[in-house]
Amino acid sequence: MRRAEMLSWLREEHPGEVSGLWRLANRVRRKNVGSDVHLRGLIEFSNHCRRSCSYCGIRSPNRKIARYRMRADEILDCARAAVRLGYGTVVLQSGEDPEITAEWMADLIRRIKAATGLAVTLSLGERTEEELALWRRAGADRYLLRFETSNPRLYGRFHPSLPGRDSDRLALLVELRTLGYETGSGTLVGLPGQTYEDLARDIDLFGQLDLDMIGLGPYIPHPGTPLGKSWKECCAPPDRQVPNTEEMTYKVLALARLVCPRANIPVTTAVATLNRSAGFELGLSRGANVIMPNVTPMTCRRMYAIYPGKACAFENHDSACKRLRYRILNEGRFVGKGRGDSPNYARRTRREAV
Ligand code: 5AD
Repeated sequence: MRRAEMLSWLREEHPGEVSGLWRLANRVRRKNVGSDVHLRGLIEFSNHCRRSCSYCGIRSPNRKIARYRMRADEILDCARAAVRLGYGTVVLQSGEDPEITAEWMADLIRRIKAATGLAVTLSLGERTEEELALWRRAGADRYLLRFETSNPRLYGRFHPSLPGRDSDRLALLVELRTLGYETGSGTLVGLPGQTYEDLARDIDLFGQLDLDMIGLGPYIPHPGTPLGKSWKECCAPPDRQVPNTEEMTYKVLALARLVCPRANIPVTTAVATLNRSAGFELGLSRGANVIMPNVTPMTCRRMYAIYPGKACAFENHDSACKRLRYRILNEGRFVGKGRGDSPNYARRTRREAV
């Protein structure tokens, strides 16, 4: 799809036209990844972070949150809970926690693989090539690293590099792919200063990177962050600024499905936060095929406050899981069995092998 066409979808406001985009994305989703909805057990195992991203609530300078790091045996218990609930994958997510050493993480991955056989997805931020290679050898299957925005000026402004180390997420994404990871990335929708052109470029980049997974959500201002305090002043003029709305997020989701037809695309928690009662259903009918239920212990989950008001059921795992299954079946969809690997990964690795 040409960038001009993406732009006109992003700017389209006529409900009749927009529903044409939903229908198209839904059709492309069904044809390429079928009707299964894959469930991933999300384990947010540490909220320590050395970075100072100005949009994120767990940024290192935020002294207002209590920090935690789960022990390996506690994380293993969560992985076992994921098996019991019928999930095929665990996603191990944390801030960029310097205390998580390469060896400790490799050992944890090996233990989870040995004890559960689940697919393991990592989402640990920007780590060294050596670490990424070690974890892949330890058995990690997938890696998620959002590029957040393809506009280098915005990225640099909100995402300061560590001293002496330039942050280059695009290079890391290429590295992850070379190491044989199923590779996922994505953006924030409605980041202050993000224009429609920026967002169209983000979606174009999904296609150029040939992503296996795409995770995206609306920017939700966090009052304990610099951007959360001043986001209105950081916005582009109203006719150019992308709104951080639910509808805009679905448009990006639908367009992501069109440019990466075989990718696994979740309805993220940030989307569900904007619409608790129907966010999952709307996302699933507009291109998505994955949901990531949270299996982090309740006490920790509250402290993993990337943005305020995070929707993650405060009920026990079993009833949350039951209710989610009901919602999926109610949409005329099925709950995926097994690992739910990305059909895009299968195809490109077959192609690369010949
Ligand atoms: N609103 C929405 N999403 C956010 N993230 C970080 N801060 C916010 C926020 N304020 C997203 C980033 C990151 C992911 C784990 O959470 O895109 O990659």
